[in-house]
Amino acid sequence: MASTQGAPILVASNRGPVSYALDDSGGLSARRGGGGLVSGLSAIGPEAGALWVCSALGDGDREAVRRGVAEPGVRMLDVDAQVHADAYNGIANSVLWFVHHMLYQTPLEPVFDAGFRRQWASYETYNHAFAQALAEEAAEGAAVLVQDYHLALVPRMLRELRPDLRIGHFSHTPWAPPDYFRLLPDDIAAQLLGGILGADRAAFLTRRWADAFTDCCHAVLGPGIPSGTRIGVHGLGADADFLRERSHRADVDERMAALREQIGEGRRAIVRVDRTELSKNIVRGMLAFRQLLDDEPEWRGRVVHVAFAYPSRQDLAVYRAYTAEVRRVAEEINSRYGTEDWTPVVLHVEDDFARSLAAYRLADVALVNPIRDGMNLVAKEVPVVSDDGCVLVLSREAGAYEELGDDALTVNPYDVSGTARALHRALTMPLDERAERTKRLAAAATALPPAQWFLDQLRALDQPS
Ligand code: G6P
Repeated sequence: MASTQGAPILVASNRGPVSYALDDSGGLSARRGGGGLVSGLSAIGPEAGALWVCSALGDGDREAVRRGVAEPGVRMLDVDAQVHADAYNGIANSVLWFVHHMLYQTPLEPVFDAGFRRQWASYETYNHAFAQALAEEAAEGAAVLVQDYHLALVPRMLRELRPDLRIGHFSHTPWAPPDYFRLLPDDIAAQLLGGILGADRAAFLTRRWADAFTDCCHAVLGPGIPSGTRIGVHGLGADADFLRERSHRADVDERMAALREQIGEGRRAIVRVDRTELSKNIVRGMLAFRQLLDDEPEWRGRVVHVAFAYPSRQDLAVYRAYTAEVRRVAEEINSRYGTEDWTPVVLHVEDDFARSLAAYRLADVALVNPIRDGMNLVAKEVPVVSDDGCVLVLSREAGAYEELGDDALTVNPYDVSGTARALHRALTMPLDERAERTKRLAAAATALPPAQWFLDQLRALDQPS
């Protein structure tokens, strides 16, 4: 039933803009997260009455919901913990993420059995809880922007509950090509596509992912996009004003000094910053660095690979194993090549945003070599923040490649030798060429800042189909 009191603009996502930590004495403290969507939504302002519906993710969040503690403009849903675990770890992270990033080792996986079907039922329940909450909270004719693979069924469910709403769905990931997408059981593939097609508009970060979605619809559902859903592309860019201000604060300067000391006087730095995420290809990046030291021995003692790999999704064994492999390869390179005063790989795993910005500022080379990535904002942030120019070595499988490919050195992420050659070329690039390229990269990277990205999506929802 339509409410005239409700919110005129709603955002729905699994991870919300705020999380709560519970201290030993039972106190709750709120922490606001970053990211494109958070800064995008701030363009609307709280006075516009926008509401963000998200999931309670940890004990702190659940306690906040129980106590009725909430940030203005945010509603957290406390879905049953097992349902959430099945939907988030089981389906979203272990199936949908793997499909869209093409991460399966197919001789042994995936296996879609009874256990998978049980988790799928939880995924439906989880999506239904969001659809229900959005239906309760939305004003008549409101715009609802549903985010990502966690909530692929929400647009269709919400449309059934509230036909008056204008619904958009945005995918922050790549979209798999049909042959890979059809690893999924046919009924599940159809349900996922049909879920998103419940939206008035389905949008993606690049044309490539949008086309793959359309191809999957044709392959699974037959020709034509049946519901008349419009397909859009909005390539989220870096937030230049925020980054430039934030990267010159005292905490960043302090971390720069500490990093410089770790790297050592006069040495070059090849920097990467990622979540320790299977799709980011951190291990092959290190193998390429090792090959650089083998093939071009003049770099021994003169370059350091600074790798920040922040823990992610550690509930999943495959992520824990990958994190361990990242550490093992870093140690192996250090023990084979390291000397008393030179540590070839500096690996940090504790999340520290100020230190990431410090690394961006001093990087000579940024290595962004994902197997597949929806966009990759690191590729867009480094050129904006860099002090003296930085060469971007960029995977052609990152969404950012469409916008930055001309001025980056591009690599096939599986080609370790090719990546090693690109690193060598990056390290030997004349400084004036590097500066020119950085300038053009920064301009391309900031073409669609988060606020504009968000407003464009809202505006596009209003356009007639
Ligand atoms: C990707 C997804 C986001 C997700 C983020 C972090 O960027 O597109 O939806 O929030 O990864 O992953 P996590 O599982 O920690 O939320």
